[in-house]
Amino acid sequence: MNLTPKEIVTYLDKYVIAQNNAKKTIALALRTRYRRMQLDKELQDEIMPKNILMIGSTGVGKTEISRRLAKMMKVPFVKVEASKYTEVGFVGRDVESMIRDLVVNAISIVKAEQEEENQDKMDNYVLNRIVEKLLPPLPDSVSQSKKDDYQRLLTVMEEKVESGAMDERIIELEFDKINVEFNDTNLPPEMAKVQESFSKIFANINKEDNKKEVTVKDAKSILKLEASSKLLDMTSINAEALRRAENGGIIFLDEIDKIALSEKSQGRNDPSKEGVQRDLLPIVEGSSVTTKYGVINTDHILFIAAGAFHVSKPSDLIPELQGRFPLRVELESLTEDTLYKILTQTENSLLKQYTALLGVEGMKLAFEDEAIKAIAKLSHRANELTEDIGARRLHTVLENVLEEISFDADEHSGEEYTITAEFVHERLDEIVEDNDLSRYIL
Ligand SMILES: Nc1ncnc2c1ncn2[C@@H]1O[C@H](COP(=O)(O)OP(=O)(O)OP(=O)(O)O)[C@@H](O)[C@H]1O
Ligand SMILES: [Mg+2]
Repeated sequence: MNLTPKEIVTYLDKYVIAQNNAKKTIALALRTRYRRMQLDKELQDEIMPKNILMIGSTGVGKTEISRRLAKMMKVPFVKVEASKYTEVGFVGRDVESMIRDLVVNAISIVKAEQEEENQDKMDNYVLNRIVEKLLPPLPDSVSQSKKDDYQRLLTVMEEKVESGAMDERIIELEFDKINVEFNDTNLPPEMAKVQESFSKIFANINKEDNKKEVTVKDAKSILKLEASSKLLDMTSINAEALRRAENGGIIFLDEIDKIALSEKSQGRNDPSKEGVQRDLLPIVEGSSVTTKYGVINTDHILFIAAGAFHVSKPSDLIPELQGRFPLRVELESLTEDTLYKILTQTENSLLKQYTALLGVEGMKLAFEDEAIKAIAKLSHRANELTEDIGARRLHTVLENVLEEISFDADEHSGEEYTITAEFVHERLDEIVEDNDLSRYIL
C-alpha cells in the first residue's frame, strides 16, 4: 500500500463529504506505516503506530469512512463492533478473535495474489481433471494408433470444455473433504484443532459419500478450490499472511462508546463492559495472540476506534485504554450544505439509487436542483427539531417524498417524472414542522 495521503483523501472524497480532519489523520497514519516499512528492522521495531479515536455523532460518516477504506485497502483490514465482544470467561466472542479475523483476512489477500500468479497452472489442473472424467485414459497396452486417436480426441475435448460447450454434461467427482477449510475464527485454536481432526475422521469414514454428480460447469468452480489447495503452498502463504497482518494490519473498532461506562447510566451498565476494555488493553498495547496459523504479535497493528459518545464520553473509557488512542479526531455534524453535497456529489448517492430502482420499472425519475436543496434543507430542519441522526435522515425524508411514486411506478412505465421543489414541500412541510408527526414518520 503506497498511496500518498493525498491520494487516500481523494479516494475518500468520492464517498464521504466533509470530515476532512478525520480523512487526513487516517491517511497520514496509513502513510506512516508505509514509511516505517522502508526503514531498518531495528528502527522499525521502535516505531509504534498511533491509534486513532474518531468521535462524531450518529450518521456523520464514521462507519462509512471505514467501509470505504476496507474496500480500497490491499492491507489486512477488519471492521468489528466493540459491543459484540464479551469478557474472557463469559460466553461469547472474546476480543482475541478480532486478531484471528485479521489473520484470516490476510490469508485471503495473500492467497488471492498467489492464485492470480498461478492462474495458468490452476486452469490446467481444472481442465485435466474434467477431461480425464469425460475421456478416461487408455490402458498402456493399447496400440500406438489407438493412442494417437485418443490424443486427437483429447485435444478436441479440451477445447470443448474450455469453450463451455460441455458445461451441461454431468460428471462424477470425488471430493477431498479434508480440504474443506474451517474458517470459524470464533473458536480458540485448540478447539479448531479438535474440529479439524474430527473432520478428517469423518472424511475417511465417508469416502463413499464423497462422490457426487455435478455438471461440468459446477465442477469448474469446485475444482478451482481443490486446485488452489493442491497447487499453492499454504505454509508459505500462512507465514506471509501472518507477517503482513503483524506489520500492516488495521483493525477498525466501531461502536467503542458502547463499552464505555457512563456515570449517568451506571445502574444499567453491564459489568462485563469494563472487562472487555481490560481485555482490549494488551491487544492494543501489543501482545502475542495464538491463532490456528501461528502466533501473531499485535505491537504494530493499527487500531482505529470510532464512537458517537452520546451517552458516554471518551473519558468514561478506562484511563489505560484512553491513553492507547492518542490521536483524536472529531467529525463535524452535517450542515444543510453538506447534506446537499451528500445527495449530489457522492458516488452512488441516494438519488442515483432511487433513480436506478425506478428505472427498473421503466420510469424516468429526475430531480430539479431546487428540489434537492429543499430535501437537504428539510432534512437538516428535521435533525434540528428532533434528534440529529445525520445523513441517515436523508433516507427517511427521501422515502417519504418518493413513497407514492414508488408504490405505483409500475403503472407509469415509460413516463418521465421530475421532482420539483413544490412537490417536496407539499409532501414534507407539514410533517417536518409538526413535532409529533415527524418523530414518528421521519
Ligand atoms: N459525510 C458523509 N458523506 C457521505 N455520506 C455520509 C456522510 N455521513 C454519513 N453518510 C451516510 O449516512 C449513512 C450513515 O453513516 P455512517 O454509517 O457512517 O454513520 P456513523 O457515523 O457510523 O453513525 P453511528 O454512530 O450511528 O454508527 C451512510 O449511508 C453514509 O453513506
Ligand atoms: Mg457507525
